[in-house]
Amino acid sequence: MECKEGQVAYITGGASGIGFGMATAFAKVGMKIALADIEEGAVTKAAQALQADGADARPFVVDVTDRKGLAESRDAAISAFGGINLVCNNAGVNRAGHISEISYDDWDWVMGVNLDGVINGAMTFVPELTRQGSDGHMINTASVGGLVGMPSLAIYNTAKFGVVGLSEALRADLFDAGVGISVLCPGLVRTNLNSSERNRPGNEDKDIQAPENDTLLQGMDPMVLGEYVLAEVRAGAFFICPHPEFRGVIGDRNNALEAAFKGDAPQETIDMMRAMVNPF
Ligand SMILES: NC(=O)c1ccc[n+]([C@@H]2O[C@H](COP(=O)([O-])OP(=O)(O)OC[C@H]3O[C@@H](n4cnc5c(N)ncnc54)[C@H](O)[C@@H]3O)[C@@H](O)[C@H]2O)c1
Repeated sequence: MECKEGQVAYITGGASGIGFGMATAFAKVGMKIALADIEEGAVTKAAQALQADGADARPFVVDVTDRKGLAESRDAAISAFGGINLVCNNAGVNRAGHISEISYDDWDWVMGVNLDGVINGAMTFVPELTRQGSDGHMINTASVGGLVGMPSLAIYNTAKFGVVGLSEALRADLFDAGVGISVLCPGLVRTNLNSSERNRPGNEDKDIQAPENDTLLQGMDPMVLGEYVLAEVRAGAFFICPHPEFRGVIGDRNNALEAAFKGDAPQETIDMMRAMVNPF
């Protein structure tokens, strides 16, 4: 997708971090921005900041786990802007912890936002993106945690692997319609992700802070990431992997997977499987 002046981006989790970084990059090239987020105060301020820089940006308060609310927000954004070209299913939360320390309540919350939220985004926006054809694109924010499992990240890994799988399936399903799909798999980015509990349903403490030793403070600037994503979408990338320091770890996983296939199959059946799954 070109990402050009007048096209419209709808970004969940747009009030903070990576979502706001992408919104800023898209606004700079003249795109109109629908910022969608569960945090009303933050999303209002974020939209005002983009407007102050001359962008046509509007806030939408929405919880990505609320299918009806998401559809209403889509319709409101289409009425405001006339259509939607680019959807970023980006809202996310984290609850790290060893498998022995996490609860079903933790699973339900993190899977609900990080995987169901992206499923809801796909189901809600695919008809509009299909209408846009080759001017339509979807970016799903996964993580390097969607490409390799890590200690104390069971829920996050499960959800993010799901986002990668969903994105690969969408890429195959929407290929003929001309709709582009990208899956964003960052490493560490300097965001508010480690204070996710602020958005946990039932949590009254909305000012909750990340721990002092927050590792994300060493991460990439989300504004730099936003520019990186813009360039990769324009280049037609499916996988967007801005952190080359993970190449070794993920390469080791790929090698282990390849080594697990023992023996040979006739070339024609190998080719048949390739054709069936829309190869990279
Ligand atoms: N920060 C990192 O290092 C990193 C790395 C890889 C992937 N990611 C992913 O990037 C995405 C953005 O996270 P971030 O790091 O910018 O964190 P962030 O906390 O700065 O931003 C997340 C945004 O999502 C919103 N949100 C949370 N729950 C929501 C809900 N139910 N409905 C709508 N909005 C909701 C929050 O209010 C917030 O504005 C997430 O999917 C996250 O998993 C982050």
